Amino acid sequence: RMAVGNATVGELVRAAGNACRSPVLPPYETLDDYLADGGYQMLRRLRAAGSPDEVEQALLAAGLRGLGGAGFPSGKKWSFVRAEQGPRLMAVNGDEGEPGTFKDRYHLERVPHYCLEGMLIAAWAVEAERVYFYIRDEYPAVLEILRREIAALEQVGLIDPGYVELRRGAGAYICGEESAMLESIEGKRGIPRHRPPYVAQVGLFGRPTLVHNVETLHWIARICREGADVFAGVEQNGRKGLRSYSVSGRVAKPGVYLLPAGSTIRDVIDAAGGMTVGHRFKAYQPGGPSSGILPASLDHVPLDFDTLNEHGVFIGSAAVVVLSDRDNVKAAAQNMLRFFEHESCGQCTPCRSGCEKAVQLMAAEHWDQPLLGELAQVMADASICGLGQAAPNPFLTAMKYFPDEVRPATLPSSRTER
Ligand code: NAI
Ligand code: SF4
Repeated sequence: RMAVGNATVGELVRAAGNACRSPVLPPYETLDDYLADGGYQMLRRLRAAGSPDEVEQALLAAGLRGLGGAGFPSGKKWSFVRAEQGPRLMAVNGDEGEPGTFKDRYHLERVPHYCLEGMLIAAWAVEAERVYFYIRDEYPAVLEILRREIAALEQVGLIDPGYVELRRGAGAYICGEESAMLESIEGKRGIPRHRPPYVAQVGLFGRPTLVHNVETLHWIARICREGADVFAGVEQNGRKGLRSYSVSGRVAKPGVYLLPAGSTIRDVIDAAGGMTVGHRFKAYQPGGPSSGILPASLDHVPLDFDTLNEHGVFIGSAAVVVLSDRDNVKAAAQNMLRFFEHESCGQCTPCRSGCEKAVQLMAAEHWDQPLLGELAQVMADASICGLGQAAPNPFLTAMKYFPDEVRPATLPSSRTER
């Protein structure tokens, strides 16, 4: 009998198991509350006499794009899937693993039925035979909320028993990549598939599959219920729509902030209560480590899809991390590459060896920038999925915007030592 403190290991394991089984739930809107507020009336109306084309047009008119990070027009996915021969399936991507991203959790812990009603509207639109809801295991409260509320939906007859199946992710970042997620749901090792074919054509168990992120479904329900203006009616800096920014780092009040898609980093920092006392704004990561790092001088750019591309970064899942004069960009970029090295699934050489090589090169006092540039090109061109393609962004942006921190190699001969 091994003992830790006053408890045996067995007791500790049992206690941990109990804690996992009974997480403390935040106050959230249950099915009863949601129904009392008019919830699921839209779903019932659509199921009775709705036209998927009309809803799809409404989503396109609202400008809703995939909020997992890729920004693909949401409505278009429906027609891609419907164009394929049935039976069709649907999967919800709740594996939000991008470091700094916690918006899906925020929404599910408050009003889970927006996402669930959006999911059922989308499933209705593509006539999905079954829905798989993939949720990361690091969110025990969300998992329990979903268990309860899906059971409640079955009880009131809004879905058949077993129509929505919950699947738990086991902590691998790559399982948030949609085809790796589908592999994982199928019970296999979660590694990305080659595209094409897209999952809309050949997805789960070889069937046409609609995949949406949690927040995208949240907005599908709200646009259907409240009209396109609830989303598209918000305009700032010439950009329409809303984004849920997950804000962390050197700000006074980290959290999720619902702001116009056209917000700048200054707007986001203001919403988060300003900088932490004693810190001066120096840099920011707009959308998780895969997006790269921008300097404070680029504080006027709207953070919407597409607008950041010319600066070599993207907004992705809007995981904003604010860095200050006390942070070292070189160290931050190294940390990000160590993350990618750890999370690379290892399937393809440019990513598997590329991340490892980048971590080694970045450990040098002065980075060999030409070599890192070559490595980045190979990774971007030849990696199978977005992880390997975007992994160089932290060091590319560090070299571009913070040259003083990553001074060029002073010893050209070091290049022959590789
Ligand atoms: P992607 O642009 O390749 O695909 C986006 C979606 O559109 C997918 O569902 C894909 O199947 C669909 N699609 C694209 N072209 C299509 C076509 N021709 N026909 C049918 N369907 C098509 O982007 P990907 O690789 O799925 O996602 C990358 C993004 O994910 C990055 O921008 C990153 O920010 C984000 N990300 C988010 C994370 C999170 O925790 N939320 C974690 C890691 C990355
Ligand atoms: Fe795996 Fe990286 Fe290749 Fe993606 S790019 S398939 S994560 S090794």
